[in-house]
Amino acid sequence: MSTTTTTTTHAFKTEQQQTFAAKFETKDLVTFDENAVYGDWRDEFHKNGCVVIKNVISPERAQYYCDKQIQWLKNFDLGFDEKDPSTWTADKLPVSFKGGMYFAYGSTHEKMAWEARTEPTVVEIFEKLWDTKELITSFDGMNISMPNRKDITWSPWPHCDQNPRRKGMQAVQGLLNYAPNGPKDGGLMLMKGSAKLFDEFFSQKRDSADHEDAPPPELEFMDLFLFSKKDVAWFESRGCELVKVNMEPGDFVLWDSRTMHYACFPEGDQIRHVQYICMTPRKFAEPEALEAKKYCFENYMGTTHWPHCNVRVTKEKPMRDGEICPKYRTEPFEKPVVTEKMLQLAGVKPY
Ligand SMILES: [Fe+2]
Repeated sequence: MSTTTTTTTHAFKTEQQQTFAAKFETKDLVTFDENAVYGDWRDEFHKNGCVVIKNVISPERAQYYCDKQIQWLKNFDLGFDEKDPSTWTADKLPVSFKGGMYFAYGSTHEKMAWEARTEPTVVEIFEKLWDTKELITSFDGMNISMPNRKDITWSPWPHCDQNPRRKGMQAVQGLLNYAPNGPKDGGLMLMKGSAKLFDEFFSQKRDSADHEDAPPPELEFMDLFLFSKKDVAWFESRGCELVKVNMEPGDFVLWDSRTMHYACFPEGDQIRHVQYICMTPRKFAEPEALEAKKYCFENYMGTTHWPHCNVRVTKEKPMRDGEICPKYRTEPFEKPVVTEKMLQLAGVKPY
């Protein structure tokens, strides 16, 4: 089994991190008919590399997930109160990335995360997109961002989640939105049309922007590239448009992983509630990726956005003031009810 092992010292302490199936495909894993007309959201998706799909779950169901996420924050007993903004500070919240993205503490396998991944209408989106029912899912994180946080520094980080060495459409990311998300509420910024220019942009040597979130050189196999202001202008000069995606509770947004994107800081008074979800065909996965996913699944570990390759098995520990967070845990508070569908989506059970 070929693996890549690294050690890093980022926001999360990584004792040893192994990456399985990090190999790079240089062509499309699936070919789409350029002239196909679907008569639904797929037409916009294939044109722009991104699309918002309305009312995928009901507003009531979205509210259920908001409540679950708030309860999850409160389970840590750090003093967080969703009704008292003075408690919206790092010391009263579990450790997150960019002030609201949660990947640690077994959170990627909480019951609520699996419930979202297995919502029939969510699975249907990816079935339609890839034209197969045999899908596997990422074990992705969630985003619970309090607006107007004064205790965190924040800067935009335009990036794409596909390594420049991969070519073609190989992964499509998504997020299920639970709370009202208007222009002031932060959230997803997308460079519409940038996916189609990915190959042209990377046809010459490009250096990842100098940014605090840029991957260190030893992680050059990661599916992450940070764009500079100059790069942003390069895409804009070719007709791409940076848009803030506004959504209502229950909406879903899909974007090709070659699309430039980042999250903007929430400045209204609304808490942002999101679950990241990504699915690709099981046939894209090599046996070693499936094996690594099984290990992650059985040990409540998360993965990157990529369901079928570059599976990073990490023993990441959230760090607080230079020490491992005293609330560090390796299991969800509320474990999911394991179903046949879940095992198939996890890649543990074949179809
Ligand atoms: Fe991203």
